[in-house]
Amino acid sequence: MAHLELAGIQQRYGTHVVVDDVSFAIETGSIACLLGPSGCGKTTLLRCIAGFEPVVAGAIHLEGETVSRAGFTRAPERRRIGMVFQDYALFPHLTVAGNIAFGLTANAGEREQRVAALLETVGLAGQGEKYPHELSGGQQQRVALARALAPKPELILLDEPFSNLDVDLRERLSLEVREILKREGMTAVLVTHDQNEAFAMADEIGVMANGRIQQWDTPYRLYHEPANRFVADFVGQGVFLPGQVLSAHEVEVELGVLHSAVPLECSQGCLACGRDCGVEVLLRPDDIVHDDASTLSAEVILKAFRGADILYTLRLDSGASALSLVPSHHNHAIGERIGIRLDVDHVVAFKTETRQFVSGRGPQVVPVSFRR
Ligand SMILES: Nc1ncnc2c1ncn2[C@@H]1O[C@H](COP(=O)(O)OP(=O)(O)OP(=O)(O)O)[C@@H](O)[C@H]1O
Ligand SMILES: [Mg+2]
Repeated sequence: MAHLELAGIQQRYGTHVVVDDVSFAIETGSIACLLGPSGCGKTTLLRCIAGFEPVVAGAIHLEGETVSRAGFTRAPERRRIGMVFQDYALFPHLTVAGNIAFGLTANAGEREQRVAALLETVGLAGQGEKYPHELSGGQQQRVALARALAPKPELILLDEPFSNLDVDLRERLSLEVREILKREGMTAVLVTHDQNEAFAMADEIGVMANGRIQQWDTPYRLYHEPANRFVADFVGQGVFLPGQVLSAHEVEVELGVLHSAVPLECSQGCLACGRDCGVEVLLRPDDIVHDDASTLSAEVILKAFRGADILYTLRLDSGASALSLVPSHHNHAIGERIGIRLDVDHVVAFKTETRQFVSGRGPQVVPVSFRR
């Protein structure tokens, strides 16, 4: 049985539908993430799960029990859910230990033990007597997590927990928090608009846009097998090059013909027909490899040095741009032509007319996805 299950959840403010027909299920011990642009409904959905918002339609089940449906909302304090808010809202007049113990009802001895154990868990052993203002942002964040874990909730909800921190700390803390949640066997739902954070922390990710889940999948599949244009654009970098379907197993782009072991298909059944079907092929920066021996070349128009790699923006002969990720000892200047070749594992293509996906919410075209 799923730990948390949402079935057809809708929530709106007045006539503005903010969460629309959202369904997913999370197993016990799994860390899920809702990833999407600002305003897409992530916080609203989290508040529905916590019981701070009613739902207009659908149902939320916690360990098989219905906790929300139209006309019924079980109170947040009766859900055994811990929540970490974006601003972590520690009580400034309480010590670290006081903050962590705040929601605990056990006797003094047990409280003290639990607080000490949690301080140890979040790497702050011996710092219980400090006040929040004596801690760094990352340390305060860990206190907020310890406070949410203290009453041993069954499910923990984290709303943009690292958004106030700098990039390095964010990355380190997201891995640390993942470790802590896994060690404690917690089920968790994290909300973020930062894809790296989602990738670092989550077992499964739901990409949201306009109140709807666009794809619920593993990080790997979201990146390599995006279900629609929105997900392909939002997750990871890349460009779309115009392509032509040559046969059930072949798509041609400017840089060559991509061969597929699996026949191409789409919801309209026409990608495989070979009849002049126009598609847009997604090429990630790691799909275009720098190779001096290649007969193909392109001009470097931008370069971003990243330490281990350089991300080159290239101008192809047609004038289209493409990205190529290259080990940084291949240091080329802007204006130089460099040899390139395709090294594509999964190819993802969308029929050309699906461009207006986000506003349209129209029929979703199943992407062409295959291995070479
Ligand atoms: N209390 C409210 N009353 C009216 N509209 C609201 C309310 N809360 C949120 N909204 C609207 O609902 C939509 C979704 O808001 P929500 O806070 O869920 O987005 P979000 O995905 O969490 O965004 P962000 O990444 O910026 O935090 C927004 O258009 C917002 O303006
Ligand atoms: Mg939000």
